[in-house]
Amino acid sequence: MRMHKLHQRYQLQATWTAPNRRRLYATFNLQHSTRILEVGSGTGVITRELSSSGSAHVYGVDIDRHAAAYAFTYDPDSNYGIADGHRLPFKEGVFDVALCHYFLLWVANPNRILDEMIRVTRPGGMLAAIAEPDYGGRIDHPSTLVALGTLQARALESHGADPRMGRKLRALFSQAGLQSVFAGVLAGEWRSSPDEEAFDSEWEMLREDLGSELSEQEYKDFRRLDHEATEQGERILYVPTFYAVGIVANDKKTSNA
Ligand SMILES: C[S@@+](CC[C@H](N)C(=O)[O-])C[C@H]1O[C@@H](n2cnc3c(N)ncnc32)[C@H](O)[C@@H]1O
Repeated sequence: MRMHKLHQRYQLQATWTAPNRRRLYATFNLQHSTRILEVGSGTGVITRELSSSGSAHVYGVDIDRHAAAYAFTYDPDSNYGIADGHRLPFKEGVFDVALCHYFLLWVANPNRILDEMIRVTRPGGMLAAIAEPDYGGRIDHPSTLVALGTLQARALESHGADPRMGRKLRALFSQAGLQSVFAGVLAGEWRSSPDEEAFDSEWEMLREDLGSELSEQEYKDFRRLDHEATEQGERILYVPTFYAVGIVANDKKTSNA
């Protein structure tokens, strides 16, 4: 059950980054022989999207065996394994593309992870971090909801995440020796009519994330303020979410961080 809830969360997160994924996939030049690895593949949301296009051989690894098992059932067309991204169980240069999505903020040593992703990708192949948020640049409006951003960043930190990973992505890619690095940040968009289902789902996520930071009454108050502001067409919640792509050099040398 817990894994199914996580899966729903990952599906929701994937909707936020869908337009950018489509754009990035075009740069991967996917063909039938393309071999793609997703590190930190969770329940298989991104891997399934790639394998269901039928245009690639897709592999996913995750350190959490329950996530890998869920992905295996959810997406029989991809290949899944249990592995720590700091020590990938693949030989040198076996992938054309290695990517991740909402992942680097969670790892102990992102330099080491990138080194491993580079090692298993062929020279001339591509590395992509499709989405890494930066809660340090979060915008909340109206001001009654600003505290929510601070609380969420604190909660992420207490769960071992780096809430400012987004801004570090470009440097990580450049310092790893990747070539032709380009990095960017996703735009925001707000619709006039509130999407009740997405609202409920996001607040369910917040209940889990902020459980240790908020009393039940504070949670209800913030939720009400958010709902009112959303209904009145005022609410802005923007978490800058960065992406980066780079090419693996022919004479690749990793930083061995
Ligand atoms: C936020 S989830 C993202 C899942 C998936 N990429 C997606 O977007 O749907 C992050 C995933 O990274 C995994 N993870 C964290 N540290 C890891 C590590 N060192 N090696 C491999 N996976 C790891 C977690 O178990 C979790 O499934």
